Amino acid sequence: MAARSGGAAMLLRRGPVLGLSPVPRRYLYKKKWATTSPRIPATRLALHHFDTTYSLQLQERWPAVRSAMLCEQKYGALLNNFASADLIAQQLELLSATDFVSQAARRARCWQENESVEVERRKTSLEGSGGDGMMVPAQTSPLLHASVSSNIKCYTFPRGDISRFHPAWPDSLGILSYYLMDAASLLPVLALNVQPDDLVLDLCAAPGGKTLALLQTGACGHLAANDVSISRTKRLYHILKSYVPKEIRETVSITSHDGRDWGELQGGTFHKVLVDVPCTTDRHSVMEEENNIFHKMRTKERQMLPMMQLQLLMAGILAAKPEGEVVYSTCSLSQLQNEHVVERAIDIAETQFNITVHVEDLSHFRMLFQDTFCFFSGCRLGELVLPHLTANFGPMYFCKLRRA
Ligand SMILES: C[S@@+](CC[C@H](N)C(=O)[O-])C[C@H]1O[C@@H](n2cnc3c(N)ncnc32)[C@H](O)[C@@H]1O
Repeated sequence: MAARSGGAAMLLRRGPVLGLSPVPRRYLYKKKWATTSPRIPATRLALHHFDTTYSLQLQERWPAVRSAMLCEQKYGALLNNFASADLIAQQLELLSATDFVSQAARRARCWQENESVEVERRKTSLEGSGGDGMMVPAQTSPLLHASVSSNIKCYTFPRGDISRFHPAWPDSLGILSYYLMDAASLLPVLALNVQPDDLVLDLCAAPGGKTLALLQTGACGHLAANDVSISRTKRLYHILKSYVPKEIRETVSITSHDGRDWGELQGGTFHKVLVDVPCTTDRHSVMEEENNIFHKMRTKERQMLPMMQLQLLMAGILAAKPEGEVVYSTCSLSQLQNEHVVERAIDIAETQFNITVHVEDLSHFRMLFQDTFCFFSGCRLGELVLPHLTANFGPMYFCKLRRA
């Protein structure tokens, strides 16, 4: 702005000095705009930045991911168990949508049954050959322990089908029947695997899609939902009011603290902690000018993101009980915001807090959800959903940590 008025002032002075005949004002302005370099849209800056970094990181996969991010994303309809939802499920099925969570849960059960039959078979054949059964190799496949919350139901249209869901409508009590969200956003919640009576912390909760999904498990003993932004916390209140009956809402405590201080406020308290951090929101950044973190004036904030993410993840680790579990997630493809943050946090937990943190293997998610999402197999730690034209969800990175 300052440069613009400075430039305009110079133009206005120049006429009389040069003794030129008065020039109509509109031409002066034309000249001013012509000499002022045009503002580069933040979306273009974002795309340029991603072209540079993600073409190295994702290599030959980047052009396809890029095209998908520039196209309309797909949504999932998270069924609201607090509404009279049976009829809704039937209606969604009539539209050819399927519940990908229940499908994955069935698949996990099926694999587990097959695996135990296989273990039995090997044991019997070893006994038959004179072995003592102790020779059966320990089954370490995470599939054996995979459990998917069957209470969460989320409908998506099949791969390649770009139909859209209608907006949700309220039941007779005014509770909305489903919540439209990027279906990949459910994966961090499923990875958290909330068990009955778990004390759960959602450290960066607003506007509340994952908070709502956590409540759908019906398992949270207590849910603390926090977000530093007061205006976004209001949106969280609004979502809970539209989807959750009062008696359940009363079991949720909503706060607006800076999550980085949480470890000091309530350290070692929670069984499960979700740390869904602010990030470069890659899809938003290449599509929307409004609230875009690639705006020039937000450069510093963007550069500080990995530090902020690290501090939030550290607070999440400190807030967890010993043996407690933490899921870290972003909606960015950036290694700097994903694996690097996790690696740094594990290191700091060990060296500065004497806390050992293990990374849990979530590779079975790739098999369980392969029909719905397109996964990147090259992450050093955690899992990453890549946007793809036939399955246009994500990006979504998630990594599960367990505090020793
Ligand atoms: C990716 S969004 C969370 C989305 C949310 N989990 C959901 O599923 O709807 C990140 C959130 O982190 C919040 N945030 C940013 N800095 C924070 C901080 N220091 N402490 C807590 N929350 C923070 C932002 O206000 C934003 O709402």
